[in-house]
Parts: sequence; structure tokens; C-alpha cells
Amino acid sequence: MTLRIGILTVSDRSAAGLRDDASGPLLITLVEAQSWEVVKAGVVPDELGAISETLASWADSGSLDVILTTGGTGFSPRDITPEATLKVIERRTPGLVEAIRAKSLKITPHAMLSRAEAGIRGRVLVINFPGSPKAVQENFEVIAPVLPHAVDLLREHPDSEAGHRP
Ligand code: MTE
Repeated sequence: MTLRIGILTVSDRSAAGLRDDASGPLLITLVEAQSWEVVKAGVVPDELGAISETLASWADSGSLDVILTTGGTGFSPRDITPEATLKVIERRTPGLVEAIRAKSLKITPHAMLSRAEAGIRGRVLVINFPGSPKAVQENFEVIAPVLPHAVDLLREHPDSEAGHRP
């Protein structure tokens, strides 16, 4: 099953062209390695309006199943991605971020410093990842195995109940 993915990098410095975005391109590579399709990719600064407006317009475009964000989940005053995400999602999906944090805490105690959120807007799943390429890779590996079934359920695919049988 092909998943249609949007990748949004949230970074003041990358949006201003002061730093190359490493995590967005890494996410593109990881998504394409699963034979899923990257339909949209972009970079926005750490601004509540820019992030939430982009997330809402991408989610409402009808062209995406999942939006992965990278960056802006930490404790610094400009880190606002979780708040922008909570503004646009309608239903939270705490299991995804709980699983990411549980796995990540086995790698680094710094995992508890990510305030990442995840949730559903319409039929689109939005998941926050931290900003570093290392964290992006580790987070992606946690959620990738469940994404096809998650998207099946969002699409109300007739076979989606089959995934619930042991
Ligand atoms: N999670 C994983 N799996 N691996 C990591 O290296 N880095 C942490 C954390 N989550 C990390 C991780 C660090 S150092 C921070 S500060 C927070 O994510 C938030 O990162 P962000 O501010 O770049 O979003």
C-alpha cells in the first residue's frame, strides 16, 4: 500500500537559509525506502502561525495520509511545534508518542526532553519528531511498522479490521 507523506521541517535557521536542512532530506530517504510517496516537503520557521497554517492546509488538501514534522519539540523558548500541532489536530494519538519515547529512552535520557505530539485531523495523521537526524532516524523506525495499518483505519479500508486479529 502506498502511503502519501508530507514532510515539514520546522527550523528558524533552515527557513532563513542559514543552515542546511539535514533532517527533512533524511526523512524523504527513509519514506522512499519504504516505497511510500513524498507528496509535499517544506521548511517553516518556529512560528506558531506558519506551522499550524501549513499543517492545516496540507491536511485539508486531500493529497496526504501522514504529515511528519521535524524540529521544534524541545524546551527552548522558540520550540513551539507541539502547540502548533495541538491547534490543528482533532483527536490526539498518544500511543504513537508514548511508543517513540519508550524506545528512545532506551537510547538516550534526552528523549524525555522532546514534547512531541501526534494526532489526527480529518483522515490525516500528524506526528512530531525532534530536529536531529539521529532522533529522526530513531523515531521513524518506531512508527514505520504501524503506519500502513494506521492509514488503512483512517481511510476506512474494508480489510482494515483484519489487522486487529492476532
Ligand atoms: N529522541 C531520540 N530517539 N534520539 C535523540 O537523539 N534527542 C532528544 C529528544 N529526543 C533525541 C530524542 C533531544 S537532545 C531533545 S532536546 C529533544 O528530543 C527535542 O529536540 P528538538 O528540540 O530538536 O525537537
